[in-house]
Amino acid sequence: MTAKPWGGRFDAATDRRVERFTESISFDHKLFEHDVRASIAHVEMLAEVGLVGHDECQQIVRALIEIRAEIERGDFPFVLEREDIHMHIEAALIERLGDVGRKLHTARSRNDQVATDFKLWIRDGLDRIDAGLKALQRAFVVAAERHCNLILPGYTHMQRAQPVLAAHYFLAYVEKSARDRGRVADCRKRLNSLPLGAAALAGTSLPIDRDSVARKLGFDSIAANSLDVSSDRDFAVEALFALTMIAEHLSGWAEEWVLWSTKEFGFLALPDSLCTGSSIMPQKKNPDVLELIRGRSARVVGSLTSFLVLIKGLPLAYNRDLQEDKLPVFDAFETVESCLELAGVIVAAATLRDDRVGERIEEGFLDATTLMERLILTGVPQRSAHEAVGRLVAACERLGLSKLVDLPDAEFARTCPTLEIETLRGVLGVANSVGAFRSAGSTSPSEVAAQLEQWKRRLESPTS
Ligand code: ARG
Repeated sequence: MTAKPWGGRFDAATDRRVERFTESISFDHKLFEHDVRASIAHVEMLAEVGLVGHDECQQIVRALIEIRAEIERGDFPFVLEREDIHMHIEAALIERLGDVGRKLHTARSRNDQVATDFKLWIRDGLDRIDAGLKALQRAFVVAAERHCNLILPGYTHMQRAQPVLAAHYFLAYVEKSARDRGRVADCRKRLNSLPLGAAALAGTSLPIDRDSVARKLGFDSIAANSLDVSSDRDFAVEALFALTMIAEHLSGWAEEWVLWSTKEFGFLALPDSLCTGSSIMPQKKNPDVLELIRGRSARVVGSLTSFLVLIKGLPLAYNRDLQEDKLPVFDAFETVESCLELAGVIVAAATLRDDRVGERIEEGFLDATTLMERLILTGVPQRSAHEAVGRLVAACERLGLSKLVDLPDAEFARTCPTLEIETLRGVLGVANSVGAFRSAGSTSPSEVAAQLEQWKRRLESPTS
């Protein structure tokens, strides 16, 4: 039987079924590096304030580093009796150092310890996510440059709406990722105050220096209210929401590209190495990676939801329910990290088929709205201009024509008698239509070129 840290109060050993039911080592072992990092900062502070000797501190730090190396190598035995990673590391320390090891937990509870480790883990995770988002932004920018002359049909309601430059399309996702990165940065900022030193719930009567620990661990401040600390998981919820938005963005993009890779669209070519086939239909080539990016967003939404339900109604300070906080967080980070990686791979390797897009780009009256705006510029009220162009489109339908530009002059003369036909024809066709845009943020070629330049510069800088 392994002695429990709370053994003094107990006469009987813990029931095996209770140990199995209450353990968290099977998943919180992932926190080992952060637990060691926080313990080193803690014991150094204990030495600074005289609660442990400097020599004792050195022994403890050395042993913690050894333990960390053993866990990294896979040489460290995890056992059910030592509930969690915190108890494992402390027990290993005591095995090595005896009474000196028994000093590490001075002025500390697993409640503030677990909150600290978890914050450190999430902070590292957020940094990895930010790097993944930045890499994806770069991939979108490269794709924008690669397709800088291509015009795509823009859709609303999945119906052809107005023409857009392909670069404008790719930069739309760069913007979404920029907001995602903003949410990650906000979350990181608010997360970055130190729980350690709150002890169980009320703080400690021992003369600790929390600011010193905060500095060592890279926290900007110390959490102000010890009672708040051990129940606070806001940072995890915020991180999960940031991850959920990333997953939602990726899912929408993946859906679009699944459609684009169909025969019906034919816009997208994916290399064989990034697709899979069918075990029964020999001709199939499926965009499974995109489908799974779309599908995995469900897990991330689920993680956020289950976390919110977990903490709903918990009273102040630590409650054991909180042990369940790690699984959804670990899963969401892993899922989003891998989705970001694969999204980057797909964006870099996919080609938009200029030929296929071009074949039918003049269909669907994408230039109708620019034609209406041309009429407005000459003084026609918007509602009348809308009606006039609507009549031109109806005339095309009646005559079996797929493009406004194919309408005979007589139709234009009848519908818009006050205008020179050449003026009207000047905005017809998708190239003319795109060229007519001018508002800030629009698909106008000069706007898009400026945005592309701006993003290239921003993403080159290592700090942004
Ligand atoms: N295994 C627990 C967890 O992960 C550690 C904290 C336990 N604290 C306590 N007072 N029992 O949440």
